[in-house]
Amino acid sequence: MATSATARAGANIALVKYWGKRDARLNLPAAGSLSITLAALETVTTVSLAPEPAADEFFLQGRAEDAAPVTRVLDLLRPPAGPRCRVDSANNFPTGAGLASSASGYAALVVAAAHLFGVELGARELSVIARQGSGSAARSLFGGFCQMHAGELPGGEDCHAEGLFEASHWPLEVVVAITDRGPKAVSSRDGMNLTMATSPYYRAWVDTVPGDLALAREAIARRDFEALAAVAESSALKMHASALAASPGLLYWNAATMACLHAVRQLRADGTPVFFTIDAGPQVKAVCLPEAAGRVATMLTAINGVREVLRTPLGPGARLV
Ligand code: PMV
Repeated sequence: MATSATARAGANIALVKYWGKRDARLNLPAAGSLSITLAALETVTTVSLAPEPAADEFFLQGRAEDAAPVTRVLDLLRPPAGPRCRVDSANNFPTGAGLASSASGYAALVVAAAHLFGVELGARELSVIARQGSGSAARSLFGGFCQMHAGELPGGEDCHAEGLFEASHWPLEVVVAITDRGPKAVSSRDGMNLTMATSPYYRAWVDTVPGDLALAREAIARRDFEALAAVAESSALKMHASALAASPGLLYWNAATMACLHAVRQLRADGTPVFFTIDAGPQVKAVCLPEAAGRVATMLTAINGVREVLRTPLGPGARLV
């Protein structure tokens, strides 16, 4: 039996957002979501059997972290009373700053752990397990374009991700404007819970998601950039509107975030195929056709307060190394 396994996974960015749960304990989303998987923002995770197995250990970028969330996911894959593990995880991009490091992290973890424990599951089944670490992680099991289904079963067996198209179907590019390298003030988990509990707009937001999913799927199938731009920007702004209306209101944006949104809108008005999306943090992700990526990157780099600009094409799903 192997004593370690390594997997890699790309981060993903939702074009139709997930924000809210139907079951907090099982981490079941209140609605579906739709995402693109990124090639260049990646996590590599090694799971090794610990020689002196007192408890699981978790190292992120070489630093020891609380292993409890990792143990919860490992327990879904290892035999009862099975061996404890050491998990080493490294991101090639800023961690915990709204760049979906938990998504690529948990996706790589379940692929590596399943292999180590000899559990033969497909990407769909592994997505059900990854979701219990972080809702967005289920989507990083698949490459290209991916839809997450909320499902209806109380136990969440039908709450899984589905690959829609490989990256080659429509090779979009993403330009990420990093406006703050620090960790975000409110995690997406806490932000969602607060929005659900206090925002008068929460229900209205959730009710719009199925319609947005249908529009986005259709736009992607037809490679209709304008249609995808419209639904993706609307989804991101509605998600943030529901969060802004929480009590106290969640303000994930800074001045540079706002400047980037205006710049992207201006570029599109001038004929450049680009749209924005924003997660639970101040970074702006500009999605564009490949021929526009250079122009978009130059424009965003010039904005006051933008610290760094990353570029990435779409990439494959989580896989063993
Ligand atoms: O599953 P989490 O805790 O990573 O939450 C993801 C929330 C958003 O990134 C804001 C939206 C999304 O669908 O990825």
